[in-house]
Amino acid sequence: MEQLRVPGPTPLPKEVLQAISKQMINHRGPEFRQLFKDVTEKLKTVFQTKNDLLVLTGSGTGGLEAAVVNMLSPGDKVLSVSIGVFGDRFANIAKTFGAEVIKLSFEQGKPADVDSIRKALQADAAIKAVLVTHNETSTAVTNDLKSIAAVVKKEFGKLLLVDGISSIGSINLPVDEWQIDVAISGSQKGWMVPPGMTMLAISQEAWQANAKAKMPRFYWDLAKAKASLEKGETPWTPAVSIVFGFGISLDMLLKEGLPNVFARHARVAKAARDGARTLGLSLLVADEKYASNTVTAIMGTNGLDPKKLNQIMREQYKIVLAGGQGALEGKIFRIGHLGFVDVPDIDDIMAHLKLALPQAGLVK
Ligand SMILES: Cc1ncc(COP(=O)(O)O)c(C=O)c1O
Repeated sequence: MEQLRVPGPTPLPKEVLQAISKQMINHRGPEFRQLFKDVTEKLKTVFQTKNDLLVLTGSGTGGLEAAVVNMLSPGDKVLSVSIGVFGDRFANIAKTFGAEVIKLSFEQGKPADVDSIRKALQADAAIKAVLVTHNETSTAVTNDLKSIAAVVKKEFGKLLLVDGISSIGSINLPVDEWQIDVAISGSQKGWMVPPGMTMLAISQEAWQANAKAKMPRFYWDLAKAKASLEKGETPWTPAVSIVFGFGISLDMLLKEGLPNVFARHARVAKAARDGARTLGLSLLVADEKYASNTVTAIMGTNGLDPKKLNQIMREQYKIVLAGGQGALEGKIFRIGHLGFVDVPDIDDIMAHLKLALPQAGLVK
């Protein structure tokens, strides 16, 4: 069997595999209602929020679209803070639905500069909302969201929509404490369940914005999802099997304890970075302070061909790593280390990388 180490989907614990293979039940029956309510409450604990938490069927991008179309109107000015492919995607969604997007982009491998965000907000009082990625999976950078949120909320009082797809549940993101208005995640990341659901925490301020927002929406209508949740249901047929999976995986995460889950991800990420450096590799993220705990990006320097390396790792050693995206295609490879993972998994990858690197061109 292959060892899957891309930044989502992730391998699943056997207990979750058993749960997702269970026979179907009526998604409007008592058993599902109870389970869905339980899962929603447990997700709130992991999101560290008392706000409404909605679980929708769709991928993370659907969650980003839901956040945009439910909070904004065509013509609204939006500040997009982008440090990579997923930040750009969030901006593109807003643009597609008619927002006036002001883009603030930063160099590949670097975090967003908090002072530049402050200046952009000072420069245009008409900006209504800020879109930002917590953990940019394409470059393996984690933004200093706490400081960004303090500027956006405390200094300027703007609506803050956060892509926490590859961080929430793996990297600390206390939604209420940092005053995030909409925080979005995706089931295939650190949650130890398959792809197919997106989860959004919605603040009171966000609901007020929602009441006035005029972008078109139907499937992603959060007010409909909230009304259905009061009955323990979803407006449309949900991915029942993933809800079964959540029923198990959330118990596993909560039993381990959130601080321990975050510490495990930090430990695993450090093992990946230290291991890569020991093998003579260079990391895309120069400043350790912003290096992601869920994914590590390694550069194709010193003759290394990242595409060839990933092919060798997959074909010879059955280890599946990720390549680069967008402008980084062919220039980096990435190790996903989120969800069901611990240090021995990284040690195993490093042992095989040591064998594969010379074959993929690395000269020391
Ligand atoms: C930070 C981030 N944003 C957005 C997405 C898009 O999610 P999905 O592929 O589930 O639509 C991903 C997934 O790779 C991601 O890592």
